Amino acid sequence: MKPAKPISLTRYLIEEQHAGRINADLRLLIEVVARACKTISMSVGKGALGGVLGDAGTGNIQGEAQKKLDVIANDVLLEANAWGGHLAGLASEEMDHSQPIPDAFQRGNYLLLFDPLDGSSNIDVNISVGTIFSVLRCPDGVTSPGDEHFLQPGTTQVCAGYTTYGPSTMLVLTVGHGTHAFTLDREVGSFIMTARDIQIPADTKEFAINMSNQRHWEPPMQRYVADLLAGKDGPRGKDFNMRWVASMVADVHRILTRGGVFFYPLDAKCRDKGGKLRLMYEANPMSFIVEQAGGAASTGRQRMLEVQPTGLHQRVPVMLGSRNEVAEAVRYHAEHDRA
Ligand code: AHG
Ligand code: MN
Ligand code: MN
Repeated sequence: MKPAKPISLTRYLIEEQHAGRINADLRLLIEVVARACKTISMSVGKGALGGVLGDAGTGNIQGEAQKKLDVIANDVLLEANAWGGHLAGLASEEMDHSQPIPDAFQRGNYLLLFDPLDGSSNIDVNISVGTIFSVLRCPDGVTSPGDEHFLQPGTTQVCAGYTTYGPSTMLVLTVGHGTHAFTLDREVGSFIMTARDIQIPADTKEFAINMSNQRHWEPPMQRYVADLLAGKDGPRGKDFNMRWVASMVADVHRILTRGGVFFYPLDAKCRDKGGKLRLMYEANPMSFIVEQAGGAASTGRQRMLEVQPTGLHQRVPVMLGSRNEVAEAVRYHAEHDRA
């Protein structure tokens, strides 16, 4: 639903604070993250002219080659969030371990986790990329948090969001009271609310998956997708369309806009790691956003937000989007496991 009169992110956050749904620290934290994302948006937008494309020549803890923009986006988020006084620590997909806020600065009560640049394989081909973030409370009595203090299930998130750097730059946010979208007004430099209380349709005829992994999937996923592909002639009795951007932010954004389901299931190639996508930086924040928009998110066997993390960089299978379709995929897994 489009708001009657567009309001800025700043006004939305002030209104949430006045309604007692967030405190001043969380409001400032979100403002700082949004400001950092504007800086990242500028860098991404410069493309080849800014010398930001291509590989950084380094690797991250996940064993992935880093793009220059992975490193730039990580540095922007680190620098912006170090000195505000509302955080106790930060963790990033691109860093081996979490970092407590340096002693030189005041420390606050929140923990921030981020995937600084999601979909980085798409940077050099000028396809949408994004930033994903999640906010947790620092456990009581902990002043210098370590990795273990970040290992909280997704249900404890107090805020999650992502930005997508596409034809327009958008910020999608939840503080646990609905999911709302803001579009960057580049002339003014403000995020303006362009969708309030997004609702993902419960049913869909569109799915997103990397089909090249088909032969590596588990049997229930093979059977489920075969039934989608069989369309009108199969057990589902309707034709499905397929989309795969390979930037989770862009695929999730499409689902928030017009419904759909997104899958990154377990496969033989990623089985040892537990999946492809990261629980703390990708699956949990996106699952919170999707649930707050009336959708569902699962590993195929468990509600995503209830997974107890065991490692900062833990990976999980992901199925999220239109709730009835996620329920179908989960049903195929349950039937398989029972048999
Ligand atoms: P990242 O760029 O942060 O490493 O994440 C990439 C992720 C996600 O955005 C996307 O859905 C998926 O990897 C793409 O995987 P494929 O390469 O299998 O298409
Ligand atoms: Mn990512
Ligand atoms: Mn990334």
